[in-house]
Amino acid sequence: MDRIVVRGGRRLEGEVRASGSKNATLALMAAALLTDRESVLRGVPRVRDVGTMMKILGALGVACEWDADDEHVLRIRAGRVSNPEAPYDLVRQMRASFLVLGPLVARLGTGRVSEPGGCAIGVRPVDQHLKGLEALGAKIRLDHGYVEASAATLTGARVAFDVSTVNGTQNVMMAAVLARGRTIIENAAREPEVAELAQVLCAMGAHVHGAGSDRIEIEGVESLGGVDHTVWGDRIEIGTLLAAGLVTRGDVTVRGADPGLLDATLEKLREAGGDVDVQGDAIRLRADAPPRGIKLVTAPYPGFPTDMQAQLMTALTLADGSSVVTETVFENRFMHVPELVRMGADIEVAGRAAHVRGVGGLSGAPVMATDLRASAGLILAGLAAEGETVVNRVYHIDRGYERIEDKLRRLGAEIRREEG
Ligand code: EPZ
Repeated sequence: MDRIVVRGGRRLEGEVRASGSKNATLALMAAALLTDRESVLRGVPRVRDVGTMMKILGALGVACEWDADDEHVLRIRAGRVSNPEAPYDLVRQMRASFLVLGPLVARLGTGRVSEPGGCAIGVRPVDQHLKGLEALGAKIRLDHGYVEASAATLTGARVAFDVSTVNGTQNVMMAAVLARGRTIIENAAREPEVAELAQVLCAMGAHVHGAGSDRIEIEGVESLGGVDHTVWGDRIEIGTLLAAGLVTRGDVTVRGADPGLLDATLEKLREAGGDVDVQGDAIRLRADAPPRGIKLVTAPYPGFPTDMQAQLMTALTLADGSSVVTETVFENRFMHVPELVRMGADIEVAGRAAHVRGVGGLSGAPVMATDLRASAGLILAGLAAEGETVVNRVYHIDRGYERIEDKLRRLGAEIRREEG
């Protein structure tokens, strides 16, 4: 298994370009199931989760290939979907696989997807996805670890989610675009990845209004056409790279951003001591002193993203002062804490809150990546620590960051991947 080795203490400086959003891409790939025409996605990040979604589409009998001339262009053509089943072996590797259920029922009248189960960051049920599909008239059956949804025709309906769910909103949206009549989704997730999916669905011929707000209206259509879309910059990768600037007291510029989608992240980076400037699609963060202690509470968009919590917490371990980090989205997303403590951080977890007392410095150590964003936090800790940090189980980070070590090296980090 690969390891990332970081020698800390370098101040990061310079400019890098963001990759396209991993989470948006996964939903857009699922949306390609809704049409027999070609969907072209540009700026797709070369990360493991995209590879897993390609395998899922392949298992469904759908052609999905990288463009021969551009390694970030993906071409998907679901001319025929020959198999309605997403198998356990793939779904267990990535919960977002569940996103194919809505499109499968809408397109084929039936879909079977392995029940994704819990994962390291929490129980993560799919009850809201199923509630939404049921409201549109799908019959749901749980059978030998699989969820089967079927409906001769889907009919538009009112769906009121009990919790704000990103993939749940996307799944139901994708089913509703081909349903008969009008669907109204209340308490819809407002994340940019929902708005981007709506933009793409509309470009395919769907009628979707209000995405980005908590009320989405969809008027079903008979069929959808192809699309050619460039994926928006990955707001979490951008936030992570800026946080790397903060922990190393550096001067980092990330291009390819839509800064308006990062308001909560930029506000907290500023409050924690970063001097943040926005110019067009570039965000620059400069820092020349230790971070400042802050209060941080994760929340659905437009709140502070749970996917940035580990990275900001890492910066706060080095703050002048104390911080309280409260995780409200997932129940078990503090797995980076014991590893940060091994590097010298002073953190105590009480329920959903982590109390972080800033320390003067961290010391390099071998650490274990446990999930995608926790691993990003540990790499940032390594950049700031004295000595060498070896981050094991790097496959977690490869799920969602495209060659993060190359981007950080371009900014001046002493970082390398060891294969093995
Ligand atoms: C998406 O997951 C992202 N994944 C996650 O990215 C992200 O952390 C999360 O949204 C929150 O922003 C993708 O887009 C592929 P949710 P999703 O449904 O949609 C509960 C990363 O690191 N819930 O919005 O699965 C759930 O347990 C990741 O890139 C139900 O109770 O998250 C959680 O507590 C990991 N029932 C809360 O809602 C349901 O049916 C929010 O989860 C669905 C969700």
